[in-house]
Amino acid sequence: MTNEAAMEQVQPAASAPAPEPVVALIPRINVAAFCDDQGTAQAMQSAGADRRMVQAHMDVHLGGIPAAIQAYTNAKTPDVLIIESTKQRDGLLNDLGHLAHVCDPGSKVIVIGHVNDVLLYRELVNQGISEYIVAPIHQLQIIEHLAGMFHDPEASPVGKVLAFVGAKGGVGSSTIAHNVGWMFSKHYATDTVITDLDMAFGTAGLNFNHEGGQGIAEALGSMDRVDQTMLNRLLTKYSDRLSLLVAPSSIDREVEIEEDALSAVLNVVRANVPSVIVDVPNIWTPWAKSVLVHADEVIITATPELACLRNAKNLVDLLKAARPNDNPPRLVMNQVGIPKRPEIPIAEFSKALGVEPAVTIPFDPLTFGTASSNGQMIEEVAVKSDAARQLVVLSQILQGQEAPPKQKGKALGSLKAKLATLRKK
Ligand SMILES: Nc1ncnc2c1ncn2[C@@H]1O[C@H](COP(=O)(O)OP(=O)(O)OP(=O)(O)O)[C@@H](O)[C@H]1O
Ligand SMILES: [Mg+2]
Repeated sequence: MTNEAAMEQVQPAASAPAPEPVVALIPRINVAAFCDDQGTAQAMQSAGADRRMVQAHMDVHLGGIPAAIQAYTNAKTPDVLIIESTKQRDGLLNDLGHLAHVCDPGSKVIVIGHVNDVLLYRELVNQGISEYIVAPIHQLQIIEHLAGMFHDPEASPVGKVLAFVGAKGGVGSSTIAHNVGWMFSKHYATDTVITDLDMAFGTAGLNFNHEGGQGIAEALGSMDRVDQTMLNRLLTKYSDRLSLLVAPSSIDREVEIEEDALSAVLNVVRANVPSVIVDVPNIWTPWAKSVLVHADEVIITATPELACLRNAKNLVDLLKAARPNDNPPRLVMNQVGIPKRPEIPIAEFSKALGVEPAVTIPFDPLTFGTASSNGQMIEEVAVKSDAARQLVVLSQILQGQEAPPKQKGKALGSLKAKLATLRKK
C-alpha cells in the first residue's frame, strides 16, 4: 500500500513523548517504512513531512516485514529501511531472517518493535540492525535516529564517489558520466550530484542545458567554510533527485585545485548525497590522482586504439596497486566501430589490460550528436539504441546490481547465519 492509501485510514498519532528537537538536516537519502500499526505509520508520515527531512525521501507503507520482503524481492532496498513488527521475540527474529535474504548490503535497517526487552535490543544490534526502537514512537524520535546514523563522525559517509576518467581526451568519459548520473536519479531514484572538475572546458552545464554559476570553483575557494548550507547554494538543481556542481567553464579565471580543498568539498557532498559522480578531466595532477585513488569506484573510458591502451594500462596498474582492497577500475569501451578506423579488437585490448569491459558502446554519431546539441541524455533521444542499452547496463553494474541475488542479505551482518543459533537459545 502506498503512503497516501495507507494514510487515509490512519488513526490519531501515537502518544510517545517528544524527544529534544534535532537541529541537523537529514541528508538526501531514501527511507522506506513498513509499519504494522497505524499510529506508527502516521508518526512516520509526520516525520517525512518535517522540515529536517526536506532533502530526504520517505515512503510509508503498511504491512510490516512481509510487505517489505514482497517489495524488495526484485528491487534494491533503500538507504534506510524501517520495519515494524508487533510480534514477540521469536516471531520477529524469524521474519528478520527472511528479510535478510532481500536486503542489500548498503542498506541500514531500523526495527520498531512492541517488546521492551533490552536483551532483544542487544541481540538485534549485534546482528547488524542499526536501531531497535520500542513503539509507540514519536516522529522526532525517527528524525533523531536518522540524524544520529548519518551525522555521527564515526559513521561511514552516506555517499559513494564514482570517478569517471578518459584514457585520453575526447573519448566520451564526461558524456558517459553524465548519462550514468542521470540514470541513477531517474531509474534508481537515487539522489545524485554530478561534480564537474574540468574547470576551463567542463561540459556538465552544457550537456544538461544548465549553464552558468561558479559551482565547484567557489566551493574549492572556500574550503574552510564549505558546509551543507553553502553546498545547497552552489548546486544547480536539474531535477528532483539530480543536482550539478558545475565548473565555471571559462578561461577568464584560472582555478587552481588544491588536493585538500577538493577532498574537503567531496566529503561534504558525499555526507549529503548517496551518489557522487565525479567527472575527472584527462590530466595527471596530484589532485586528479588523489580523486581516482580515493573514489569508491573508478570508471575508465577508452576507445580501441593504441594510445588509449597504453594510458589505460598505466591507470589500471597504478589503481590496482594503490587500492588492493577495492574493485578494480571498470573499463568502458566507447566509440567502437568508427568507419574506416583501424581498431584494436576488444578481446585483445582487454587481455592486454587484464580487465574485461563492463560495457562496449558503439560509435553512434547521430544519437550522441543529437543528445549533445539538444542538451539531452542518450536515453531521451534514442531509448532503443544500443548505446542507451549499454548505459543502462553500466548504471546497473555501478548500482551494485550485477551480484547474484544470493549475495543479498549482508546488510543484516551475519544475521541470517546467527538467527538459527539465537532461536535455539
Ligand atoms: N559512442 C559515441 N559515439 C559518437 N560520439 C560520441 C560517443 N561517445 C561520445 N561521443 C561524443 O564525443 C565527444 C566527446 O565526448 P566527451 O566530452 O564526453 O569526452 P571526454 O572524454 O569527456 O572529453 P574531454 O577530454 O574533452 O573531457 C562529444 O561530442 C560526444 O557527444
Ligand atoms: Mg570531459
